[in-house]
Amino acid sequence: MNSAGPWWHDAVVYEIYPKSFADGNGDGIGDLAGVRARLPYLRDLGVDALWFTPFYVSPQADGGYDVTDHRDIDPALGTLQEAKELIVEARAMGMRTIIDVVPNHVASNHPWFLAALAAPPGSPARDRFWFRTGGGPEGASAPTGWTSPFGGPTWSKAPGEGDQWYLHLFAPEQPDLNWSHPEVRAEYEDILRFWFDLGVAGIRIDSAAVLMKDPTFPEIGDSESGGTHPFEDRDEVHGIYRRWRAVANSYRDDKLLVGEVWLADRDRLARYVGPDELHTVFGFDAMASPWKLSALRAAITDTLLTHERLGAPPAWVMGNHDVTRPATRYGRRDTSFSFAGKAWGIETDVGVGRERARAMALVMMALPGSFYIYQGEELGLDEVEDLPRDVLQDPMVARSGGLNPGRDGCRVPLPWQANAQGLGFSLVPPTAAPWLPQPAHWSDLAVDVQQHQSHSTLTLYQRALQMRRQFFHHAEPQVEWMDMGPGVLAFRRDSGFQCVLNMGHGAHTLPKDAQIALSSDSTVPHNERIIRPDTAVWLRP
Ligand code: BGC
Repeated sequence: MNSAGPWWHDAVVYEIYPKSFADGNGDGIGDLAGVRARLPYLRDLGVDALWFTPFYVSPQADGGYDVTDHRDIDPALGTLQEAKELIVEARAMGMRTIIDVVPNHVASNHPWFLAALAAPPGSPARDRFWFRTGGGPEGASAPTGWTSPFGGPTWSKAPGEGDQWYLHLFAPEQPDLNWSHPEVRAEYEDILRFWFDLGVAGIRIDSAAVLMKDPTFPEIGDSESGGTHPFEDRDEVHGIYRRWRAVANSYRDDKLLVGEVWLADRDRLARYVGPDELHTVFGFDAMASPWKLSALRAAITDTLLTHERLGAPPAWVMGNHDVTRPATRYGRRDTSFSFAGKAWGIETDVGVGRERARAMALVMMALPGSFYIYQGEELGLDEVEDLPRDVLQDPMVARSGGLNPGRDGCRVPLPWQANAQGLGFSLVPPTAAPWLPQPAHWSDLAVDVQQHQSHSTLTLYQRALQMRRQFFHHAEPQVEWMDMGPGVLAFRRDSGFQCVLNMGHGAHTLPKDAQIALSSDSTVPHNERIIRPDTAVWLRP
């Protein structure tokens, strides 16, 4: 790209959920062989880096975020040798690799946790986790009343013991590590080095803000924030990332640390980023913003200002493997995103949603910083909301008593070929159907269909990424906002390129001299200067 800064400043990163990207051996589960075979697709799309959600050995109680061995690949997905080759092959095609590291918890069959369970209460093997005696008579109630983001309690009884409980902020199969323990710290620093030594260029840090716990385990007060919450965003967490940054800095090439930090308080969020901590954090605010001019502009401005202060470009995202797909979100009455807002049967106009998602992609690609594409966004895929209940795997569904539809709907295997079995998800004749069923209408969205359509979402992404590479100068931290009338979000970059998004209800007429370089409109516009609602354009200087 054009900026002189480190590669990640303005990189376009493609998030791969390996089980659902491409299946190389026909068993219906995506794998590293599938990714390797599809690398040319990613190169042609025009991305600079690939982020892999956890591909390590795992019982898959939470889609791989329950890790048994961070230094080896899950046999269902491939081998460590394949991962090594993949890193090299991707780099040879111009794409760096980012891996996902999960420090808050391990899988419940991790050797450390098995050793802890085998050891008596109070023994050192248990110190790497949080074991506590329950409350009430005979320790029969959980040590605290905290609720997990997956639903249900954050404590489970240690098997076979009357009064001992262990902490798991997420599922019971994900016991939380004790980050005050020196062996835990040493282990993760070693894991970072292991992957950096293999040529990995960056680490996405899972649930980065919740690692430290108040060892007295109080209940959560009403207004706790600013470092006093029993587990969220505690001040001590920064010591961990200072050590991680030292590890990253010990390499000659730029190694990226990008944090998954969901915090409403911008000042607290900003504390994670800096020359001795993380390089950047995801810009979730713009993603979660409703389709409303004032809200979107405020989210973008706040994100840019916060990052300018820190001297670190933002990492823009439209979705990920946890979030309702944008083509669905933007087609609803409530277009904002929150985990609490997930529900079954919300009325959706996917046609509108898809147009808006295309427009939002042009907005985010035009902003300073890096841009993350979650697999399938480049195809305009919608959330699959009618999966049969018996195929759902996300622990959120069961743990919420079935009230939460969970995240399987954004993890359905990609459609590659309209007329092939399993929509071409398997690269060899499949012996099994894709692990989650694909909806019939995805045949219209398959890669081989969209590749040949000049107005497809895939073609739009390809053109946009190519143009972004050529024309946007991404070094400057701010944009110049322009007033183009009610309902219109418009900004100029210092290259002179403009991005104009029509969020209003009526058509917007551009100035006479405007030259559209690219439009998100999926129809062929009648008049070159009129942009329909829910459309974004890039204008040449
Ligand atoms: C990941 C989720 C995962 C959770 C627990 C996250 O924020 O993105 O997919 O379930 O951490 O590891």
